[in-house]
Amino acid sequence: MQTNEDGTTTIGVGLISVGWMGQLHSRAYSNLRYVYPDLKVKPRLVRAADPAAARAEDAVEVLGYEKASADYHDVLNDPEVDVVSICAPNFLHAEIGIAAAKAGKHFWIEKPVGRGKEETRAVAEAAAAAGVVSSIGFNYRHAPVVEYLREIIAAGKLGRITNIRGHMFADYSSNPNGALSWRFVKALAGNGVLGDLMGHLVDLVQYALGPIAEVTAVTSTVYTQRPELPMGSGTHFAVIEDGEMKPVENEDYAAMLVRLSGEAVAPEAVGTLEASRVSVGPRSSYGIEIYGTEGSAHWDFERMNELHISGGLGTQDQGYTRVMAHPGMGDFGRFQPGSGTSMGYDDLKVIEAKKFVQSVLGRESFNSNIQDALSAAQVVTAAERSAETRAWEPSAAVSGTTAAIKS
Ligand SMILES: NC(=O)c1ccc[n+]([C@@H]2O[C@H](COP(=O)([O-])OP(=O)(O)OC[C@H]3O[C@@H](n4cnc5c(N)ncnc54)[C@H](O)[C@@H]3O)[C@@H](O)[C@H]2O)c1
Repeated sequence: MQTNEDGTTTIGVGLISVGWMGQLHSRAYSNLRYVYPDLKVKPRLVRAADPAAARAEDAVEVLGYEKASADYHDVLNDPEVDVVSICAPNFLHAEIGIAAAKAGKHFWIEKPVGRGKEETRAVAEAAAAAGVVSSIGFNYRHAPVVEYLREIIAAGKLGRITNIRGHMFADYSSNPNGALSWRFVKALAGNGVLGDLMGHLVDLVQYALGPIAEVTAVTSTVYTQRPELPMGSGTHFAVIEDGEMKPVENEDYAAMLVRLSGEAVAPEAVGTLEASRVSVGPRSSYGIEIYGTEGSAHWDFERMNELHISGGLGTQDQGYTRVMAHPGMGDFGRFQPGSGTSMGYDDLKVIEAKKFVQSVLGRESFNSNIQDALSAAQVVTAAERSAETRAWEPSAAVSGTTAAIKS
């Protein structure tokens, strides 16, 4: 990293894997200069790696990296690379995360970090031993309306939180001929929708409310085989009409009952959380409803810029008020000057990049870190176990997360 006379720091960026997320991380770094000029950071896209030749080529031709190759070690061995984005399929997260830490590279890694809590823990230990900064792809927590929701909960505006309801309903595999990408293969992904979507919801709940202490869960697989999609081609939204059918090895749907703990919630606070990748109707309906003794609120990513808050003029007038995101909420004002002009999914990744870079520069930042990933992985692993044992399973508290409500 180099800082010039006007205080601008150039940060060398490395990218591992140039799929959907790799492209998105790259756009996020590039946008930092325009969205956060006061950060005085100039990301330099140094080197990318992907074994799919066309993707490595795109990293240079389209995304603007100076070099690209097939082997991710080239990125980690490059002395010009200061920070690394790890956007590989889940089975490579532990191997690459640990190697990045050992190479002294700060890393921004996609969720879920590995295939369960043991792999996440190994990455957390490597990051702690090396003293590198970590950041996790838990993008939904950056939505300005979610930041606002977190604030009003912490301020006690909803009273004591008694119960919550959350869902992550996606339709990316609702078609029976939806592609069997790496996400459906246990060795490549670990669990299915539990890791892919439920982990996001767990982070959202823990970020807004505090830790999940205990879970009981059920899972099911709706389609047991699908047409195969070769690694490094297409996306998991692809539909293949005449492909070779291979077995689906993990769950399409999961439901959990959870017990919450922490300062913001009532001692008896409970919730229900569901996730599906085969929903018909909801497309990316990722939402949360929070009920307290004084009020309630709900949010859904499909209407990312709206929050519904209970209220009214009197008892007979109770109902929901639709509150639109505005420049006073989170980082909304960095993207749009006034309410009613929407932010989008990509913008959440720009906020995530900002929090990561702030943290790397040693400035105050509430980026989600590897302890948050470990905490979410523990809940998800407890759910996986519960689906087998049919019993309540505890999820031990994790220190050093940003998920607990700040007093
Ligand atoms: N935060 C979010 O909202 C979000 C959304 C989508 C995906 N993700 C996560 O991001 C990660 C990547 O998902 P994606 O949708 O971008 O996947 P993708 O399938 O689009 O891309 C994965 C890329 O990894 C490459 N790859 C395979 N083997 C490799 C190796 N040995 N070294 C380097 N690269 C290799 C593939 O060629 C491919 O280009 C996953 O962990 C996923 O769970 C997060």
